Amino acid sequence: MNINLEEKFSAEYHKKADAVYFTPGRVNLIGEHIDYNGGLVMPCAITLGTWVAIAPSSDQKFRFKSLNFENQVEVNSNVLNDKDGSSWTNYPVGVINEFIRDGKEINGLDFLFYGNIPIGSGLSSSASIEIATAFALNSYYNLGYDRLDLVKIAKRVENDFIGLNSGIMDQFAVAFGEKNKAIVLDCETLKYKMVDVTLGNYVLAIINTNKPRELADSKYNERVAECQQALKLLNQEITLHYLCELTAEKLALHSHLITDETILNRATHVVKENDRVHLAAKALNNGNLEEFGRLMYASHESLRNLYEVSGTELDAVVDFCSGYDHVIGARMTGAGFGGCAIALLEKGYEEDFAKHLTDYYVDKIGYPAAIYISEIGNGPYLITNAQG
Ligand code: GLA
Repeated sequence: MNINLEEKFSAEYHKKADAVYFTPGRVNLIGEHIDYNGGLVMPCAITLGTWVAIAPSSDQKFRFKSLNFENQVEVNSNVLNDKDGSSWTNYPVGVINEFIRDGKEINGLDFLFYGNIPIGSGLSSSASIEIATAFALNSYYNLGYDRLDLVKIAKRVENDFIGLNSGIMDQFAVAFGEKNKAIVLDCETLKYKMVDVTLGNYVLAIINTNKPRELADSKYNERVAECQQALKLLNQEITLHYLCELTAEKLALHSHLITDETILNRATHVVKENDRVHLAAKALNNGNLEEFGRLMYASHESLRNLYEVSGTELDAVVDFCSGYDHVIGARMTGAGFGGCAIALLEKGYEEDFAKHLTDYYVDKIGYPAAIYISEIGNGPYLITNAQG
């Protein structure tokens, strides 16, 4: 971070910060739109993230300010607060509501946030702010929640307060990330394994399409509803809690129950994507990056054609990658409808890739994409604690 947050905090609040914490964003390597279907996903935390400085307030209030956004808010520490349109402050306020509901003694703090995750880029800036707030409160007041508790609190904020029927992947990835490791998470049981990500001669490139993700939330909820519809239809003949309990063969056996082609496409994506994650985990364990890359392309094809959450911009990036000799795999990451793609790019070609992709993308889309070479980083941690 090239910003001195403690200095900014003092300038903003006229007192010293007591503690500064960091919480990452995430990319998902593979396993898209299957967390809410009880599937296996493979996200990792990145070194882009959210920093937050805090100090006790003098009046039992919580104040939330950010260096990234102009609007700020103050709320009481003992009453539940309403949602405020689409303001970023809903994320920390939603977390405060959950702590109050849980009967926790939290007496008021002043917060200053700073984040370097591009907003709305599908790298989980919102999960990062939620977990940053929950982690700071839990550490500062020594409340004894474990990381999974914080994940569940943040997910409740997203589902019940923000109104996005998302799965658990983002909050889990942000809270459980470890340097140079991916999390292979079973979203039905919440059992997980940390897997070494050894990219050898490759680096992980993140390409932000810079496409604003308008209507993304309503389309996301529509996909969730379509999966529930598929599940309901299949449950006429078999008993399933989640679509990902099915194998592709079993889905084929019962697919006559789903007469709507769109709904069947959605279910087919879910079941096959889940299989791909199992194969991808094996490939990564065996150091078979070519196979991993092939599965990334297959995942994108399915998200594009069957699940229909990609779009011209994301497709342009992945199309470019598939024709570029030094990329072995690429796909959209996160919810889609804009946002970011990821690519496995041969080391040494970073500049060449950026130049050629930029030319191609500007020509097709009319404005440039942004390209980052990403490192896989750690989950939340305390950076400084003024009390030692
Ligand atoms: C968003 C949601 C996640 C997950 C992804 C798609 O990031 O928050 O729960 O569903 O989309 O895989």
